[in-house]
Order: sequence, then C-alpha cells, then structure tokens
Amino acid sequence: MERLQKILQRAGIASRRKAEEMITEGRVQVNGETVTVLGTKASFSDDILVDGKKIKLEEIVYYVLYKPEGYVSTTKDEFNRMTVLDLIPVKERVFPIGRLDYDTSGVLLFTNDGEFANQLMHPSAKVEKEYSVKISGLLRKETSRKLEKGVDLGDFRTQPASVFDVEYDKAKENTTLKIIITEGKFHQVKRMFETVGHQVLKLKRERYGCVTLKGMNRGDYRALKIHEVKKLWNLSKNS
Ligand code: URA
Repeated sequence: MERLQKILQRAGIASRRKAEEMITEGRVQVNGETVTVLGTKASFSDDILVDGKKIKLEEIVYYVLYKPEGYVSTTKDEFNRMTVLDLIPVKERVFPIGRLDYDTSGVLLFTNDGEFANQLMHPSAKVEKEYSVKISGLLRKETSRKLEKGVDLGDFRTQPASVFDVEYDKAKENTTLKIIITEGKFHQVKRMFETVGHQVLKLKRERYGCVTLKGMNRGDYRALKIHEVKKLWNLSKNS
C-alpha cells in the first residue's frame, strides 16, 4: 500500500504536489469512491481513476545492464546512435540511473522508480562506484595520492577516492588500475585523470554499490534482487 499521491506521481500523472491538489479537488476515485483525504493509501491493484479516466500503473522494477561500449546512455540520440534502451527491451518505461559515456562499459542501473533514482544520484548519497581504467603513461605514486585526496576539476573538487591494483605496461607505456569514487559528475573519471596529465584509454564500471557484473556478459541485463535494491537504498542513506 502506498499514498495515493505517490502512486499518481509514479504513474506519471503529475508531480506529488499537483497530485495532492487533484486529490483534494475531488478528481481522484479509488474503486468507485472519490477520495479527498490526503494520505489515503491505495495499492497498484486498485482501480484508480483521475478525471474519470483509469490510470495505467506499472510495476516498479529495477535492472542492471552490462553496458557495452558503443551505446549512448540518453534515451534519444541526436546522431541516431544506438541507446542503452535498445539493450533492455522490457515492457516498463525504465530509464538509466546516471550515465556511462558512449565509450565506457560496465554496470548501468535502470528503474522506473524516480524516487529511488533521485536518491542514488543525490550528491549526499556517496555510493561507491568502482572502475577499471587504462591510462596513458606511468601513474606515479604522488599522482595517485593526489587523486585519492581530491583534485580540483575547475567547477568542483572531487571527494576522496581510492586507487589500487596499479600495473604499468612498460612495452605499451600505459597503466591499468582500479579507482573507487563516490560521486558521479559528468566525465568524472576521465576529467580526474586529464587533470593530472593522463589520458583515459579505456574505462569500465565494475561495481555500483553492491551491484557487480558477476556472471554477466556484455549486453546482458537482469532484474536486481530485492536485497540488492534494499542494500543500494541503505548505502545511499547511510552515507
Ligand atoms: N567517468 C567518466 O569519465 N565516464 C564515465 O562514463 C563514467 C565515469
């Protein structure tokens, strides 16, 4: 059971505030009865009408996609490139939680739960995101420390990060490493390395909070387990 205004919001009828107005104005009926009391609860199986029209309710769903490179994370692309939604042909109207660049692969979460998505993307959430990165050149210890402490990207200073599993390939003159960050600003990882003089050659998100790519191949998607959804919610609240 959920508050009626929340159900209306989730169904895409109106914002929570507007939905409250609709209820108090007597425009909403539940199982044949007009409801004007805010806070009245209903369920997705109830018959809900707004202005006499039955609303379509979707089940709330959560997925993880192993995004391959070569897909944009927006729902439409001005250059007609393939979008991540082409890889997740589910009946619900889901959207990605945040973005991965066209040339980045890895964990991308999807949902139709706006509140959950907002909570995870909120700056206070600080959910860990772990990336494997290949960069040009040799990553020096002091540079790594700088990244860990936080670097100035012009518009903001990054939160503390951890850098580990650093391996230099002398023949190819590049370094592979893992980095954990707790934010998700636009091009954040690439910008962090650029700021300290390295170009990111390859980027893959291995983990988002408790969700990894374990058992998945590129392009695969699966529903999140309820305990994963709860854990993500708790991780974002506990930070
Ligand atoms: N940081 C980036 O620079 N790109 C991504 O896709 C994700 C994190």
